[in-house]
Amino acid sequence: MKFFIDTANLADIQEAADLGVLDGVTTNPSLMAKEGIAGQDRILKHYVDICNLVDGPISAEVISTDYENIIREGEALAALHANIIVKVPMIKDGIKAIKYFTQKGIRTNCTLVFSAGQALLAAKAGATYVSPFVGRLDDISTDGMALIAQIRTIYNNYGFQTQILAASVRHPMHIIQCAEIGADVMTGPLSAILALLNHPLTDSGLAKFLSDYKKVNA
Ligand code: G3P
Repeated sequence: MKFFIDTANLADIQEAADLGVLDGVTTNPSLMAKEGIAGQDRILKHYVDICNLVDGPISAEVISTDYENIIREGEALAALHANIIVKVPMIKDGIKAIKYFTQKGIRTNCTLVFSAGQALLAAKAGATYVSPFVGRLDDISTDGMALIAQIRTIYNNYGFQTQILAASVRHPMHIIQCAEIGADVMTGPLSAILALLNHPLTDSGLAKFLSDYKKVNA
């Protein structure tokens, strides 16, 4: 399973990249705003900065919602860097645009997916990635992970090449469950990735190894 980090924070991206396990980055307009990245020039430059930190797929989201402007915006984003993935919302014009981008060889990430039917449409349009939001489904008392499993079954049934990019991952159990189900990619915050490191028996075991070493190597 590939690990993407879901942030526009350059320090977090660098820290995850330094760990050596980072395969890509996802962003969205909220994450860009959280970092105070505003204005078209700064936004585009920030995407290039991220591309220069991580040599892997970098999702950059369009903010247009009509076909012509999604195409215009997406083509400009794709022209920024070879690693840019154009992130397009799951709406009617978005699906049409994904089909267009697919035919043009531009890779896409269909975002804001909350149902198996939406994921099926994204795959039929040729999306490179589909982003079901597990955390936001959990937030409304719906089983986000069940959706990942349902999409996995549907894509396997027909050999769809669209990669399942489990998004809105919030904690380490989400990551582990994604791996059990067979999501192709998970994207989450640095905190969720780092939390995978932790186990109290690792901490106590290491402390004992080091203290035993010191006892005879004073
Ligand atoms: O990748 C989508 C993600 O950014 C949404 O996460 O935590 O805002 O639901 P969250």
